[in-house]
This record gives sequence, structure tokens and C-alpha cells, in this order.
Amino acid sequence: MPRRRHRALRRVLVLACATLPLGGCGGAQSVLHPESKASHEIATLFWWMLAISAVVMGGAIVLLLLGWLRRRSPGLPLLAATERLTTGVVVVFGIVIPLAVNVGVFVVANFVVAKATEAPDPRTTPLTVKVIGHQWFWEVRYPGTRAVTANEIHIPAGTRVDVLATSADVIHSFWVPRLNRKIDMIPGRTNRVLLESDRVGRYRGQCAEFCGLQHAHMAFYVYVDPPARFRTWLAGQARDRVPPAGAERRRGEQVFLNAGCASCHTIRGTSARGAIGPDLTHVGSRATLAALTIPNTAAELERWIRDPQQVKPGNRMPALGLPDADVRAVAAYLEGLR
Ligand code: CUA
Repeated sequence: MPRRRHRALRRVLVLACATLPLGGCGGAQSVLHPESKASHEIATLFWWMLAISAVVMGGAIVLLLLGWLRRRSPGLPLLAATERLTTGVVVVFGIVIPLAVNVGVFVVANFVVAKATEAPDPRTTPLTVKVIGHQWFWEVRYPGTRAVTANEIHIPAGTRVDVLATSADVIHSFWVPRLNRKIDMIPGRTNRVLLESDRVGRYRGQCAEFCGLQHAHMAFYVYVDPPARFRTWLAGQARDRVPPAGAERRRGEQVFLNAGCASCHTIRGTSARGAIGPDLTHVGSRATLAALTIPNTAAELERWIRDPQQVKPGNRMPALGLPDADVRAVAAYLEGLR
């Protein structure tokens, strides 16, 4: 290999390695861009721990360098070499400082940060949302209403929301890095976490426990809405499906009900009552399909219905081998379910 190309390759490699540790920072779900009190505490603890570690690490490097540079002269610089001094240095740097740092971080993490991020007292949360993990999507329910959705959680701004998390199959983990810590979703058990933010916006969440082939494609959005918009949204989601408008969509509904889709999916207002896949009553109102795997457009929806295993291998939806005209009719019908 010519030397110039060699050098260019090396430069690219060094750059790639240098940026690798930063890959997890920034972006739509960074712990370091907190938008709630709880995640703010987590980010502050992180920065303090980073600063303290940097000082301790820096001290250790300086002492090492000093030891190496003065390897031929006994004792410490500017000080006489006595045994008491040597022992003192070992005690201070080897026992006192590590103990103080670790105890300090432990106390702050346990009594300040853990307290700010712990499961909320249910008497302080006017809204409860139930989230159930599935391989690989999130079922979202609003107790006290008929609303059921998937992969998108809406909450009103400035409201303490109690999230009850459990699983229908294996262990998943519910995590919205900009809003709070992660909690495990365990079959047969309910864990709770507080979601609360004053900042209207869309926050990305991700499954944080390996749960099978499509673990990485198990993401969701939390929308923090102005309270009035949230109420409108919730009322809309609690309604039955909008009756299909137009011949194409009406035919799509018939195909949906007769081709086998209904044995896995529910569409309230029809005879479809399946409980294996996501509730599709208002699927047209969602931004993405398959837990943020693809955007929710007519073309992507058709691609998904034609061969779900090609889009998200291992998921539980089979390709039904529908004729092209039927696929288009079902996609048009589902797009209309707003
Ligand atoms: Cu669900 Cu990883």
C-alpha cells in the first residue's frame, strides 16, 4: 500500500476511535440534556463524578510521573525522606482520599439523586399511564379511559405522571433518558417511574434491556403536550375508529377483518379484537410504525404489510401474501384511522 494512503487510513481510524466514546452523547435521547427535575439531578451527579474522577486521575498521573522522573533520588521533592512521611503519603492518597470520595458520592447518589428519581407517591400524581412491554413494541393504556395506543405516550406539561410498567413476555426496560432513570419491566410485576416535564416537546425513549432480536428496534416517543391539547388527544384516542370514508378504505376494512389481521390486532368499533399485536384503532395518528422502525407513510405501511419480516426480522407478524390491490386497500384504510 502506498505510504500516503496508509497515512490517510490511519488518520481515519484514529478519528473514528476518538469519536466513538462521544457517539452516545447528544441527540434526541441524551442523558446530558435533561428536561425534568429528576433527569437534571442525574446529569448533575454525572458531571460532579466526572470532575472528581478527573481530579483524582490527574493526581495519580502527576504522582506517577514524579515517581518516574525522580526514580534515582530518594524521598519527595522539597521534603526530607523520612519513613513517617512516606507512610503518611500512602495513608492519605491510598485510604483517606478514596474513602472520602466514595462515601461522598454514595451519600449524594443515595439520599439526593435516588430520592429525586424514585417511584412517586401515587397521591401526588393526577395522571397514571400503564405501559406494557412486548417483543417488540410498547402497549400504552390510560386507566379510567378506553384509550389504548402503541409506541407513543402523550402526557400533559407540568403534570406529575405515574407510569406503571410491566411486561407481557420477557424482561424489557423503560427508559426516557431526558425525563428520568430507567426501570425494568418484569412479567408479573409492576414497577413505577415518574414522568414530569414543563417543556413541551417530543422525547425519545428506548428499551434498555436486551430482549431478543429486535431489542434495538424497540423505541418510543413521549410527547409532552400543552394540557388542553393533551385532553383533546386523549378524548380522540378513547373513541372508536373513524368509519372508513370512500370505497377503497371500506374495502380495506373488509380485507382487514377477513384476511386474518383481526386475530392479532384490535380496532375498536369493528369485530377485530386480537391482543397479540398493537391496537390499531388510531394507528393513522402515529408518527412511526413498528416501534419507531419506519415512518408511518402509505408507502412504508404497504411495504410493512407485504413483508414485515423483511422490515423487522423476527417480529411476530407474518406476511399474509395478499394481492397487491388488497395491500393498498388495507394501507389506505389504516392510514385513515386517525
Ligand atoms: Cu425490549 Cu429490549
